[in-house]
Amino acid sequence: MTTALITGGTAGIGKAFADSFARSGYHLILVARNPERLDTVAEELRGLGAPEVETLPADLVTEEGRAAVEARLADADRPVDFLVNNAGFDLGKAFTKTSAEDEERLLDVHVLAPMRLTHAALPGMIARGRGAVINVASVAAFVPRGTYSAAKAWALSFSESLAAELRGTGVRAMALCPGFTHTEFHQRADIETTSVPGWMWLDAEYVVENALRDLRRGLPVSVPGPQYKVLTAASRYVPRGVRTRVSRSMSKRW
Ligand SMILES: NC(=O)c1ccc[n+]([C@@H]2O[C@H](COP(=O)([O-])OP(=O)(O)OC[C@H]3O[C@@H](n4cnc5c(N)ncnc54)[C@H](OP(=O)(O)O)[C@@H]3O)[C@@H](O)[C@H]2O)c1
Repeated sequence: MTTALITGGTAGIGKAFADSFARSGYHLILVARNPERLDTVAEELRGLGAPEVETLPADLVTEEGRAAVEARLADADRPVDFLVNNAGFDLGKAFTKTSAEDEERLLDVHVLAPMRLTHAALPGMIARGRGAVINVASVAAFVPRGTYSAAKAWALSFSESLAAELRGTGVRAMALCPGFTHTEFHQRADIETTSVPGWMWLDAEYVVENALRDLRRGLPVSVPGPQYKVLTAASRYVPRGVRTRVSRSMSKRW
């Protein structure tokens, strides 16, 4: 039986991964902060077909929270085959309007936690000759916009490097780079989205379906949606200075 651990598995993209894995009969481990919501979602996933759902309340901003998840991933008696580093949030403000502590929290969740959890999970996966790590990055990885984009660029670069390093081990790594996706993300960060055109929005289920298909195909990077495939491919031909200016003009709305 496949066992999958999903950080941020109680809402949005993480919940869509959990739903899909539950329907495939995976044993699930869900990580998030809110224990009541973890229990409610776990019950729902059992109803969808997950034979077992473990809940692991942890705040990935804290050393204690990260250590608890690392310990579960490194437990050789209860192997984890699939790690989805998905938990995340945005600050919804330009860098000069946030506190350094908030920026640090963002890096803890988007960079430090995925690095530490991947490090804990990989030795067992490699020894067993099977496994996968998906790091949920973003199309923001392709456009400079504050610490959030920088953290997502890290996730993209890290995953591409890992995918190459793991070749021949039976373990895969992939960065998932969604564009605007209907979840709780924007509301939580108080980000105004009424000006985002309808064609730019994706559903979390669609994002996850595409990601799992791309992982099966062995791709190191998954960009769901034809509109974002075109935009990210085109961005390679736009000089970095132009991308930064466009991004700065968008950030003035903050
Ligand atoms: N939605 C988009 O447009 C979009 C686009 C590109 C990339 N992404 C990326 O997709 C990932 C998932 O975002 P989403 O849109 O699905 O967001 P969401 O609907 O707000 O869900 C976030 C999940 O992460 C958990 N979480 C947040 N902070 C946490 C912490 N400190 N420790 C542990 N768990 C935490 C939340 O549960 P608790 O609150 O209970 O902890 C929740 O389960 C993020 O990495 C985000 O950057 C989103």
